[in-house]
Amino acid sequence: MTFQLEQRDSSSKADLYAHLSEQLRSLLEGERDFIANAANFTSLLYHTVPDVNWVGFYLWKDNELVLGPFQGRPACVRIAIGKGVCGTAAELRQTVVVENVHEFPGHIACDSDSNSEIVVPLMRGFELVAVLDLDSPSLNRFDSDDAEGLNELAGIFLESSEYKL
Ligand code: SME
Repeated sequence: MTFQLEQRDSSSKADLYAHLSEQLRSLLEGERDFIANAANFTSLLYHTVPDVNWVGFYLWKDNELVLGPFQGRPACVRIAIGKGVCGTAAELRQTVVVENVHEFPGHIACDSDSNSEIVVPLMRGFELVAVLDLDSPSLNRFDSDDAEGLNELAGIFLESSEYKL
């Protein structure tokens, strides 16, 4: 397989995520393995989304979040429901955008470079499957455009991958 990672100077976030949707579909085409696709998805994001220092999955296993495929520095392995930004997104089943992680009660610091964060829960119907976590060294890096774009990408990933851990 040859895949060309394309980095574009996107004029807007809508443009960036539209381009990423195309790239993700092409990257995952013909493969349904959940972990393999999750790994390639994180690599695509890490190398294409500007200003991020960590991108990865926490998988929902036996009532806790367990570290999955990621790009960036080594991270904490297990996160309880309701704990930190990831556990909060998992509990609420909602995307959580944190402008300044140092002001988020119970934030779990894995990489001291991280200053802002977005966490997107991945659902199959009402069932939580995983959360996708992106960290940035910049404050206030993520907004509703990122939330929308990442949710769309998460949907493409879920459609393209068989959930079997
Ligand atoms: N900061 C996250 C923990 C995971 S790391 O960012 C990789 C949290 O508070 O849940």
